[in-house]
Amino acid sequence: MVTPMQLLLNDYQAHDAINEGKAFANSNIALIKYWGKRDADLNLPITDSLSIHLPGLGTEASVRILDGDCHQISIDGFALGTDHAAFKGLNNYLTAISDITKHHYHLSLRFTIPVAAGFASSASCFASIALACNDLHQWNLSTKNLSIMARLGSGSACRSIEAGFCHWHAGESDNGLDSYATQLDLTWPELCIGLLHIDNTPKPYSSRLAMSHTQKTSFLYQAWPTQVAHDLKVVQQAINTHDFQALGETAEHNAESMHACMSSAKPALFYSQGNTLAAKAQVFKAREQGIPMYYTQDAGPNLKCLFLQHDLDAVLDVFPNLQVIQPFGDAGE
Ligand code: PMV
Repeated sequence: MVTPMQLLLNDYQAHDAINEGKAFANSNIALIKYWGKRDADLNLPITDSLSIHLPGLGTEASVRILDGDCHQISIDGFALGTDHAAFKGLNNYLTAISDITKHHYHLSLRFTIPVAAGFASSASCFASIALACNDLHQWNLSTKNLSIMARLGSGSACRSIEAGFCHWHAGESDNGLDSYATQLDLTWPELCIGLLHIDNTPKPYSSRLAMSHTQKTSFLYQAWPTQVAHDLKVVQQAINTHDFQALGETAEHNAESMHACMSSAKPALFYSQGNTLAAKAQVFKAREQGIPMYYTQDAGPNLKCLFLQHDLDAVLDVFPNLQVIQPFGDAGE
């Protein structure tokens, strides 16, 4: 049977590998969420989604060919044992590649973002591995194929190959070769993302498990694809016209609707903690007081606030410890 990775690397030619392949990939935060798969093995989504990158926050991967008969993986300098929670997914990903290249690898990962806490660390992680392998083997894969390759590790990783606003097209084909992200040719220099760290310990259940449980047991999930199609149009238009209110309202509503699907699953799934709810109440109160700010939330208790640069001081009065990122600002790309 032809594997998805074989399909992708069909034109792979055994270029001479260099000594070490290296890459950094940014994390991305979805403004329109990906929640639910039409193919769990290939990470093919039910709907499109749209994200913004977090410059400087993500994963650095370095990969070398090993003489041994198994892969070696380290995170932040520590070798992972086979019983480590992250080992299986990473090892399977490397194995899908080594089935084609016939090499084993030493993979070293460094994170500049909390891992498995709903800050999209898996997105930057698999994007950085795909980029590093491309560098190691000098494949010169297209951005599209790198996006597909990253998606095979973790769906949202396909939106971390490029920077800026990225649109993941769900695609229709069974082999997934039309399911990848493209960068919107649009910027928004005033736009700020504030990371509100509530609890950075790893989440209680993976997004993979939570997604499949929601799809199987939540009646509300039936309405999700229709809502995403609507929200996506509104957000695309809002980005085009720099309509911040439309962007914020829709992104917040989209995230809450995803979590509503989870809380209507059987049994219910919750990523929010008491402090998450308290922070949401603070955002609502800030809006009542005339501060235009919104939030989005992924598979974890932490929030990402959305606001414009000229409201930065007012927003910092509400959340003094906010980690502020300006994706298109001086620090952005
Ligand atoms: O790519 P995964 O399997 O880590 O799923 C990501 C799911 C969300 O972060 C909740 C939404 C998204 O679109 O990033």
